[in-house]
Amino acid sequence: MKFSSLFMLPSLASTVLADVFNPDPSSFPDWSKVSKFDPEIYVQLKRMSSPALSPNRKNVVYSQYQYNIGDDASGTNLRLVDLTKGFDSVMDLTDYIYKQGDSSPVWIDDSTIAFTAVRGSPASNIFTISTVDQKITQLTNFTNDVSGLVYSKEAGRIAFISKVYQGMSLDQSADERQRIADLPSSGVVFHKLFVRHWDEWIYQDRNQLFTIPVSNNNGVVKTTGDPVNIVASYTGEWGLEPDTYEFSPDGKNILYSAKIEGREEAWQTDAGVFWSPADGSSAPVRLNSNFKGAASSPACSPDGSSIVWLQMATPGYESDQNQVILYNIKSGSQTRLIPDFTRSPSSVSFSDDSASLILGINYNIDEALFKLDISSGTLTRMSGNGSFGFVSQVSEDSYLVTVNTLQYPTSLFMISCGSDQSYNTSQITFENKDVLDRLWFSPTYNFWFNGALNDSVQAMVLYPYGFDPECTYPVFYLIHGGPQSSWNDGWSWRWNPNLYANQGFLVVIVNFHGGDAYGQAFTDSIRHNWGTYPYEDLMTGLDVLLSNAPFADADNVVAVGASYGGYMINWMNGHTNRFKAMVNHDGGFSLISKYYASDELYFNEHDMGIPWIPSDRQIYEKNNPERFTADWKTPTFFIHSHYDFRVPISESLSAFTTLQRQGVDSKLLYFPDESHWISRPPNVLKWVSEILEWVGSYTDTDVWSYTS
Ligand SMILES: *[C@@H]1O[C@H](CO)[C@@H](O)[C@H](O)[C@H]1NC(C)=O
Ligand SMILES: *[C@@H]1O[C@H](CO)[C@@H](O)[C@H](O)[C@H]1NC(C)=O
Ligand SMILES: *[C@@H]1O[C@H](CO)[C@@H](O)[C@H](O)[C@H]1NC(C)=O
Ligand SMILES: *[C@@H]1O[C@H](CO)[C@@H](O)[C@H](O)[C@H]1NC(C)=O
Repeated sequence: MKFSSLFMLPSLASTVLADVFNPDPSSFPDWSKVSKFDPEIYVQLKRMSSPALSPNRKNVVYSQYQYNIGDDASGTNLRLVDLTKGFDSVMDLTDYIYKQGDSSPVWIDDSTIAFTAVRGSPASNIFTISTVDQKITQLTNFTNDVSGLVYSKEAGRIAFISKVYQGMSLDQSADERQRIADLPSSGVVFHKLFVRHWDEWIYQDRNQLFTIPVSNNNGVVKTTGDPVNIVASYTGEWGLEPDTYEFSPDGKNILYSAKIEGREEAWQTDAGVFWSPADGSSAPVRLNSNFKGAASSPACSPDGSSIVWLQMATPGYESDQNQVILYNIKSGSQTRLIPDFTRSPSSVSFSDDSASLILGINYNIDEALFKLDISSGTLTRMSGNGSFGFVSQVSEDSYLVTVNTLQYPTSLFMISCGSDQSYNTSQITFENKDVLDRLWFSPTYNFWFNGALNDSVQAMVLYPYGFDPECTYPVFYLIHGGPQSSWNDGWSWRWNPNLYANQGFLVVIVNFHGGDAYGQAFTDSIRHNWGTYPYEDLMTGLDVLLSNAPFADADNVVAVGASYGGYMINWMNGHTNRFKAMVNHDGGFSLISKYYASDELYFNEHDMGIPWIPSDRQIYEKNNPERFTADWKTPTFFIHSHYDFRVPISESLSAFTTLQRQGVDSKLLYFPDESHWISRPPNVLKWVSEILEWVGSYTDTDVWSYTS
């Protein structure tokens, strides 16, 4: 493999340290001219999703969600932009109406779009709209919800997902669900594990893949038959739930990935890449039976000769390196591309000419796009700073992408490639510009230091609103979850660092060992080491900050973490007294009790083992925060929700008991209607407000609070 040198950054510690600890004064505004980015503005920003390029590559449609605090109401509508005219041409293709949810737009032809909506029908159904006169037509009238539309002109079919019972149609499944709901007893019997996942109990129905035949006469779209369940004839354990899917270029087949169901599902990650006739007339054929790990992101080459997907080789390891597998349809042979590349791509698509792949790769603090020339193995980075997502190729040398950074939520951009192989990026949509332009968003600064194992570890810094290098500021030390993930220069609708920077905190974020953006060895190193290397990185990173940044107030450091980050809060409570206060959202308390109650056993088993095996038990004990509760002294605020089935609420109840029983100041915020993350905007406001109240009172900082 050759690695093109364009855009290849990794900056060296000493040079970057100077910048981050002596920030450029010109990067700060006249504070009288910018407002704070506060939580109320945050929840009311517009959120784009599902952009789709028209077949003639002139228009883009996307769905846009917006919430309004005054009415406590939200809605999602379709927006249309003409790429030849730019953002001035943007229009509401469907009206924005509270509680209306127009989603999942796909182009049927250059002036007709199909999308999902309820709009008075019995469930989420398929509608079409004309971009010429905005006339809306209802295409289906199922009583069972459909989602995730994909259309192929060659197939003459729309593919979608619907949650059905074994052997039942969409409408029969809706009736069956109602019959069960009407039974006198609500008791549900289970015979095998994987009884719940994330925030829901797994009953007998499954999200299956359907296709429905449609005709199109000059924009008049009609169904010409009933939907067929593509995976109904699967010969393995019933219940495949396809995630990504697309039709083959000739429309004859449909390609998809799906996790294998069965008795071992809770502790295995095996996922198939499947190939079925588009009309479901024969059973799915699995293309990757030679693997037992997770597989994702399958895509067909436009020339119809090959298929590519991302494949993990290690059974049961959900954060294994994604190998890029190229499959030759004619010969059935598989080739692993870029075998020496040490990072793990998270998405893959073909270029128009089938000669290259576009890979999404977490690369340090960026989610970057790379172009891989298949025949030479040369990788070239196409994107600059920020988090990029590939949408579509627009011309031979331009690509439609989504971009977000710590400073703005997802917008559409165009990447253009010059003859010198350089790439330029230009913004296309500016949905929140009028609001964002008035506000302060700290630029993204970063520094590197030598952490555990003497590896280079990267950290990001965001400066507080009103920053003056002559003053000191409390430090908001934000610890990521995962642990096999990392913070990046990207927008978040969960933990948005700029919200806390705007409340007067110096926000500092360390991408400790275990993160997924620094090569596979860095990710793998956290196995059996939840309490060791990350803790060492976090302590060293804080030392480096406090000894170099005179504006960081060493006596006022608060630590904040969710999920694995919450585990780390519990771990730190037994290992250091250096934090003024801490916030723990959905954190693990006893690795042993969490093992027995969590949904995805494979995650716990890969990272720690099985607690009744004596040698594994030692690994659990070595990393278990519960063993150190006698030493807990730091005031801590716990947050947990009823529907968190990843880290069940008993973990925070246990940690709260520990501090309450020892007379240490502590607080518990409980959400009866939320899960591993907080979604409903009023709950988001309450959540952020309580966090700010806690860290504000401990650091003597005036903060925003929720008045409702
Ligand atoms: C859709 O189905 C419902 C019954 O589930 C029926 O009342 C309604 O008339 C149907 N609408 C159309 C457009 O066929
Ligand atoms: C990208 O980030 C680096 C620091 O990581 C910074 O030096 C550079 O100016 C940034 N580039 C742009 C275009 O913002
Ligand atoms: C990219 O931008 C630079 C500077 O504005 C310009 O010189 C170059 O021609 C551009 N390249 C492309 C492919 O647009
Ligand atoms: C740690 O790594 C640095 C380079 O990042 C090197 O200069 C130093 O010698 C290493 N220290 C040890 C103990 O290996």
